Amino acid sequence: MKGLKTISVIIVLSIISYGCYYDKEEEIYPMIDCVTSDMSYSSDILPILISDCYGCHKADANFGNVTLEGYEEVLKYVNNGSLLGSINHEGGYSPMPKNSAKLVDCELEKIAAWINDGAPNN
Ligand code: HEC
Repeated sequence: MKGLKTISVIIVLSIISYGCYYDKEEEIYPMIDCVTSDMSYSSDILPILISDCYGCHKADANFGNVTLEGYEEVLKYVNNGSLLGSINHEGGYSPMPKNSAKLVDCELEKIAAWINDGAPNN
């Protein structure tokens, strides 16, 4: 009986998680694959920062004393780990963008891939 219960719980949980999985981006952008190779700071990363972060982290609106305007500034937060930590909502970092939904998975993957490539100024 105990084994049967466990199996039912597993089945129910897989149905629930399967359901959630398809509620994500795939449904909203079904035809777009997330390209993460050869990321460019100016054409892939900067647009994300401008649309989701500059509202609070432009040079003249530097909330929390953090400015993400200019490659050198961004690099500081790449190097101390807080850029990735905050956008991925890791413990020990303030979750960003503050008081908004997490960036979509593809944006998170692009930023991670760019940092993995050595965060080039390209
Ligand atoms: C609504 C305003 C707002 C937005 C939008 C926002 N931030 Fe922040 N950010 C803050 C504030 C305020 C702080 C200071 C810490 C705190 O109060 O949480 C901060 C702190 C940070 C820090 C330092 C975090 C730490 O734990 O050391 C980083 C890195 C950061 N933000 C990156 C980003 C990135 C990247 C985005 C866009 C994806 C973003 N922020 C969007 C307001 C914002």
